[in-house]
Amino acid sequence: MTIKRGNAGKIEAIDLFCGAGGLSYGLRESGVIVKAGIDLDPACEYPYIKNIKAPFFKKNVEDVQGKELAALYSPGAIRLLAGCAPCQPFSTLANGRDTTEDQKWGLLVEFARLVKELKPELVTMENVPRVANHAPYEAFIGTLRTLGYHVDAQSVRCADFGIPQERRRFVLIASRFGQIKLPKPGKSVRTVRDAISHLKPLAAGESDSSDPLHKARSLTPINLARIKASRPGGSWEDWPEDLRSPCHRIPSGSTFRSVYARMSWDSPAPTITTQSFNFGTGRFGHPEQDRAITMREAAILQSFPPKYQFVKDGGKVHMSTIGRLIGNAVPPKLAEVIGLNFLQHIKEFKSGFVQIKN
Ligand SMILES: C[S@@+](CC[C@H](N)C(=O)[O-])C[C@H]1O[C@@H](n2cnc3c(N)ncnc32)[C@H](O)[C@@H]1O
Repeated sequence: MTIKRGNAGKIEAIDLFCGAGGLSYGLRESGVIVKAGIDLDPACEYPYIKNIKAPFFKKNVEDVQGKELAALYSPGAIRLLAGCAPCQPFSTLANGRDTTEDQKWGLLVEFARLVKELKPELVTMENVPRVANHAPYEAFIGTLRTLGYHVDAQSVRCADFGIPQERRRFVLIASRFGQIKLPKPGKSVRTVRDAISHLKPLAAGESDSSDPLHKARSLTPINLARIKASRPGGSWEDWPEDLRSPCHRIPSGSTFRSVYARMSWDSPAPTITTQSFNFGTGRFGHPEQDRAITMREAAILQSFPPKYQFVKDGGKVHMSTIGRLIGNAVPPKLAEVIGLNFLQHIKEFKSGFVQIKN
């Protein structure tokens, strides 16, 4: 196959397991043209189309064929196949249970199958760091190497890439053009204060009439008393005895210092999970207001732009659904860095015709 000079800078991407579009949004911001997203969760359709302005296919990736994907790219474009398969089978939460039975184990293998069928020029895969210890990852990288891809992969700290969050993600990039390297970490760190201190103050249970996502979950009287007794960056150990729950009083409970806790203003946020609107499930208390963070704050801490639309105007806001879309997303800023890295990589090959053996 020959990539012609005129097309050599245009990267087009298809996003497998696209969710609400975190990965696609960042790729698009970098200058990559996003052609489509595929996901089987119907809740992803509205935010994907609205923000990415690309077609969304509600489909099981297991039922997708390489030739269908091939038809979505423009002739002569440099094709990027991107995807973040569901992370649950590889996350620490899966520790101690047999995940081999989990249907989602196979999805990384499905991604590898599509790479084999499509042979895109570029591939990127993102997941939780523990993915690298598991057999489906071995199979994935084995497929890439057998097909002749150059690969770089490692666990990265999102805070090193301008994301106000201490999330670690595993990022793989691969190219058929030649050697490729992941970008180096930047220097400036963004804090919770940088990201969300400008938003309207709210009490627990209150919402901002101008933004349906800036809505704080209500708290029971005991949880309200607990958050009032919490210091930014502290833990339930700051509370008087009578506010502690029975599980905090047993020795093993003392290890859970980061539940029912407030964030600090001057550090990046902890990993934003699918439950980050819930004070009891992590360090999700606002640094100074007596409430958990809102979905909008969670989205901004994930580096989504402030106006990213997850629901239709006037549509019902289901915290559990939106929390899932936000917590599962690839931080758009991380995806943007990956996209820019691919564009830089392509530039190195732009000065002539590039031959790739099929
Ligand atoms: C980690 S999330 C991806 C997040 C997305 N890349 C983003 O940045 O917003 C994984 C996604 O895989 C989807 N998914 C799970 N099983 C699937 C399947 N068999 N086919 C297609 N999508 C699937 C889930 O609905 C979920 O949205």
